[in-house]
Amino acid sequence: MTELLERLSSGDEVYKPDNATMSVATVKDYESVYRESVKDPQKFWSDRAKELDWFKPWDKVLDWNYPWAKWFVNGKFNICHNALDRHVKNGLGGKIAFYWVGEQGDKKQITYSQLLTEVRKFSNVLKKLGVGKGDKVTVYMPRIFQQIITLLACARIGAVHSVVYSGFSSGALKERIVAAGSKVIVTADGGFYKGKITELKKIADEIKGECPTVEHVVVVRHANSFTEFTRGDLDWDELMREAKDDCECEVMDSEDPLFILYTSGTTGKPKGVLHVQGGYAVGVYTTVKWVFDMKQEDVFWCTADAGWITGHSYIVYGPLLNGATSVIYEGAPTTPDPGRFWSIIEDLKVTIFYTAPTAIRLLMKSGDKWPAKYNLSSLRLLGTVGEPINPEAWLWYRKVTGEKPIMDTWWQTETGMTMITPMPCVPLKPGSATKPFPGIIADIVDEKGNAVPINKGGYLVIRNPWPSMMRTVYNDPDRYLKYWNTIPNVYMAGDVAHSDKDGYFWIMGRSDDVIKVSGYRLGSAEIESALVSHPSVAESAVIGKPDAVRGEVIKVFVILREGQTPSEELKEALKKHVRTEIGPIAIPSEIEFVTWLPKTRSGKIMRRVLKAKELGLPVGDTSTLED
Ligand code: WTA
Repeated sequence: MTELLERLSSGDEVYKPDNATMSVATVKDYESVYRESVKDPQKFWSDRAKELDWFKPWDKVLDWNYPWAKWFVNGKFNICHNALDRHVKNGLGGKIAFYWVGEQGDKKQITYSQLLTEVRKFSNVLKKLGVGKGDKVTVYMPRIFQQIITLLACARIGAVHSVVYSGFSSGALKERIVAAGSKVIVTADGGFYKGKITELKKIADEIKGECPTVEHVVVVRHANSFTEFTRGDLDWDELMREAKDDCECEVMDSEDPLFILYTSGTTGKPKGVLHVQGGYAVGVYTTVKWVFDMKQEDVFWCTADAGWITGHSYIVYGPLLNGATSVIYEGAPTTPDPGRFWSIIEDLKVTIFYTAPTAIRLLMKSGDKWPAKYNLSSLRLLGTVGEPINPEAWLWYRKVTGEKPIMDTWWQTETGMTMITPMPCVPLKPGSATKPFPGIIADIVDEKGNAVPINKGGYLVIRNPWPSMMRTVYNDPDRYLKYWNTIPNVYMAGDVAHSDKDGYFWIMGRSDDVIKVSGYRLGSAEIESALVSHPSVAESAVIGKPDAVRGEVIKVFVILREGQTPSEELKEALKKHVRTEIGPIAIPSEIEFVTWLPKTRSGKIMRRVLKAKELGLPVGDTSTLED
């Protein structure tokens, strides 16, 4: 065991691809494909783009006006056409696009042609509600077919969707609706998670009156919870009953916005990462095909929620662009028991399974007996995303699934697609996301942009543009510029990493104040501003604290206002407050009342110092700390 741990930590533990994997692998030799791709990335990407349907081809592959990119310039395109119409036209109409499994075990399925019909109808519904090209639609829904139908209908008519994860509460929802200026909200009466119903419509009702741009709320009846319809509320089923099922795709420019997805950064305000129709499609199409080696007979299951980028790219758009069959499961991995994931894999004969390290660690804690109960022999490829995976969890995941290759994919909301990731032909090292995807030039540098030696930590950067990169931060271009000018001429991801002697990348975690709790992305400043909006709180500081299962948990330090006394009740009240302001995912695990916080002379809280003290690590440079 010690020997294995040594090999793991030195990066010498390597798993070569097996014959079964290689016999079907689309890309057989990473090194030569990569070398070729970065000699001429534009040729590489235009060859990929040609596999999709364009109403009119592009005049120019890339217009790079650092740091502003336009890909497939003047190309006319529609991602929904490519995700649905193209396949139906090619005879795949009868193929299952999605299986759906409810938390209570109920099952449904939908074919490509059925999905196309539903999308056409909902496109007409949106049009009737006055939604057109460029209008924003906020989607606040559980993991149900209607969520996917809504996204595709928006794309079809050129409206811009902004999905808010259903685990966010009213405060976060309102902030995102107002920031996007949405005309319509599409929601549901409720969704199921861990045996409970989250009443989404009720949450939306709390803030509807404070969102002046919203004209209509469309509600799907899904959870049979009592929902009162008030003025402006519309019933999905009624609207769909009356809707016609013919609706042509809007001819979009490849650079027209497809969606805004709000994500956390270093300030209290979430950023609206904006992705466009053409380049995004090319990126997610190619990575599903090459990283997950998608074949017509595969059954793909990405366990994410479409409320996050992983769901956008690898539940909705990427798989559909490949004509794949995917699984959606609305529920928790441990409901009713820790065998849930494995039982769905057995039942639906899932071949490719993509999940988060936090889920693997949770299931690992429940023991080998759960996966052992099920026949998992359909699996041929595995994936992880969202946070670093520790080698122990990696090895367990591999062992219980019959030694299948694991694609540890590093990427971000901003990158749109997997960036540092194996493909099935790449030898694997447990805990390493291995190498850059073809066309991507990644590096690890110091703050001036100089490459750091191997095994030395530095900032993870990307040196060249790629098609599915975000185009801007909506209504906040300065925040976009920051990614590209903090270190001159490169895209700074916000992660620290090191590389080893074989050129493998090892992602170590964030270099900023973004926290990853169970793979969910949250910002320290966001949680701090939620806390200071409580009448008892004067100041607060939030750090991520390592946790064996959840990756990180939230620890907060609170200075109370004059006259307030620390108590257990107050701690509970603060947790509840964060829950309402942001959502259950942001509830602090630990609250400590303090009378002082380390600050710079200019008044900025030094979270780094708090974290070092909390973890018993050296506090590092404190020359900027006030007396
Ligand atoms: C982290 C999720 C290590 C990283 C797709 C990144 C990872 C942030 C990995 C983006 C991985 C994602 N190994 N860390 N394989 N994948 N991360 O925007 O810190 O929710 O910057 O996108 O997740 O989170 P986001």
